Amino acid sequence: MTTNEQPRTQWLGRWGFVLAATGSAVGLGNIWKFPYMTGEYGGGAFVLVYLACILCIGMPVMMAEIALGRRGRGSPIDAIRRVTTESGRSSAWSLLGWMAMACGFMILCFYVVVAGWAFSYLWKMLSGGLAGTSVDDMAAIFGANNANPFNLGAWSTLVTVATMVIVGKGVQAGIERSVSWMMPGMVVMLLIMIVYGMFSGGFGDALHFLFAFNASDLSSEGTLAAMGHAFFTLSLASGAILTYGSYLPRNASIGRTTLAVAAADTAVALMAGLAIFPVIFANGMEPGSGPGLIFMSLPLAFQAMPFGTLFGILFFIMLAMAALTSSISMVEATVSWLTDNKGVSRRAAAWGTGIVLWIISTLAMLSFNLGADWTVAGKNFFDWLDFLTSRFMMPLGGLGMVLLAGFVLKSQVMRDELALSPFVHGLWLFMVRYVSPLGILVIFVDALGWISL
Ligand code: PHE
Ligand code: NA
Repeated sequence: MTTNEQPRTQWLGRWGFVLAATGSAVGLGNIWKFPYMTGEYGGGAFVLVYLACILCIGMPVMMAEIALGRRGRGSPIDAIRRVTTESGRSSAWSLLGWMAMACGFMILCFYVVVAGWAFSYLWKMLSGGLAGTSVDDMAAIFGANNANPFNLGAWSTLVTVATMVIVGKGVQAGIERSVSWMMPGMVVMLLIMIVYGMFSGGFGDALHFLFAFNASDLSSEGTLAAMGHAFFTLSLASGAILTYGSYLPRNASIGRTTLAVAAADTAVALMAGLAIFPVIFANGMEPGSGPGLIFMSLPLAFQAMPFGTLFGILFFIMLAMAALTSSISMVEATVSWLTDNKGVSRRAAAWGTGIVLWIISTLAMLSFNLGADWTVAGKNFFDWLDFLTSRFMMPLGGLGMVLLAGFVLKSQVMRDELALSPFVHGLWLFMVRYVSPLGILVIFVDALGWISL
C-alpha cells in the first residue's frame, strides 16, 4: 500500500480546503498584529519586506507543506515519517513535525488570550462599556479589563471552549461547516469597514503610511519581524496548513489553492490596515502604540465618529470570527495526531488538548495581571510564547520544510503532488532550494547582532 491510499477524511465541498485554510490564515495576525507591527516598524518599508517574504518564502513553503500533508495523509509527525520512509530517507525528519505541532500549540496558548480581548471588547461595545473621551480613558479600560485575572481568564476560557467544541465535531461537521459561513461573513464586514474608512477623512494618510517606502526605516529587527510575521500570517510551520492539506482530495491543485489563500490573506492584512489607519489618523492618534492599537485607539476613534458603535460592533464580531477560524486550525494537528496514534475519539482528543491548553494559556493570561513581573530577559510568559514561535520556531520549521521538499525527498514525489507545468515547477524548485533557505538564513544572520539576550 502506498502512502496515497491511506484512508483519510477529506473536505466535503469543492471549496472546503480553501475556506478552511483561508480561515486559518486570516486571523488576529492580519487584523491585530499586522497593523501594530507596521506601526512599530515604520510603515512602508516593513510592508515591502513582508510582501517579499510572502512571495519568495511563504508561498513556496505553503506549497511544500500542503504537498507533504496530502502525500503523507496524516498529522505533521506521521505525514513526514511516511513521506521520508517512502523516499528511503531518515524518518528523523519527523522531528520537524514535532516542532511544528508544538509551535501551533504554543501559538494557541497566547492566541486565545488575544481572541479573548476581541470577545470582551465585542461585549463592551454591545453593553456600552467603552465610553471614554481620551486615549488615557481607553488605556484605563484596557488596563482594567486585563487587571482582573477572573475576568480575562473567563474570556480566554470561552475561546478555548468554543475552539474545542468546533474541533471536537470533526473536520466536516465542525471545521468545514463553521468556516463556510464565518468566512463570507467576515469578507462582507471588512468591505463595509473599508468603505467607512474611505469616508473618515484619513484614507490618504493611511495609504501613504502603508505604502510609502523609506529604506532608512528598515532595521534588522524589522526585517526578522517581517519574515516571522510572513510565516505566522500564513499559518506555516505550525502544523495547521500541513494537517489541513492531509484532507485535501487528490485532484485539487496545490498551486492554485496556495495562490488563493496567500492572496486572500495579504488582501485582508492590507484591507485591515486601510480600515484601521484612516480612523487612527483622522483622529490624530499614534500608529506606533503597540499591541493595544486596535483595543485603545480604535474604540476611541469609533466613539468620535457617526455610527461608530455600530461599526465597532461589526469590527469586533469580525475579529472574533477571524480568531476562531484560526484557533481551530492550531489544534487540528494535535487532535489528528492523538486520534490517529492513541486510539482516542476525536471528542476526547479535543477536550484533553483543551485542558492542557487551558492551563498553559491561563499562565499566559496572567502575564497581564498577577504574573506581569514574572519576566525572563525582560519578557513575560506571553511575550516569550510569541517571540519564540514567530522569530525562531516558524523560520526554522519553514527552513526544514523547504529542505525536505527541495533536497531530501525523491524529486518525483513533489512533482506528482504539485503537478505543475515544467516551467512553474522549475521556478518553485528554485525557490525552495535556494531563494527561501538563503533568505531565511540571511535574515537570521543579519538579526543575530540584535538578538543579544
Ligand atoms: N495565521 C493566523 C493569523 O494570522 C495565525 C496562525 C498561526 C494560525 C499558526 C494557525 C497557525 O492570525
Ligand atoms: Na494571517
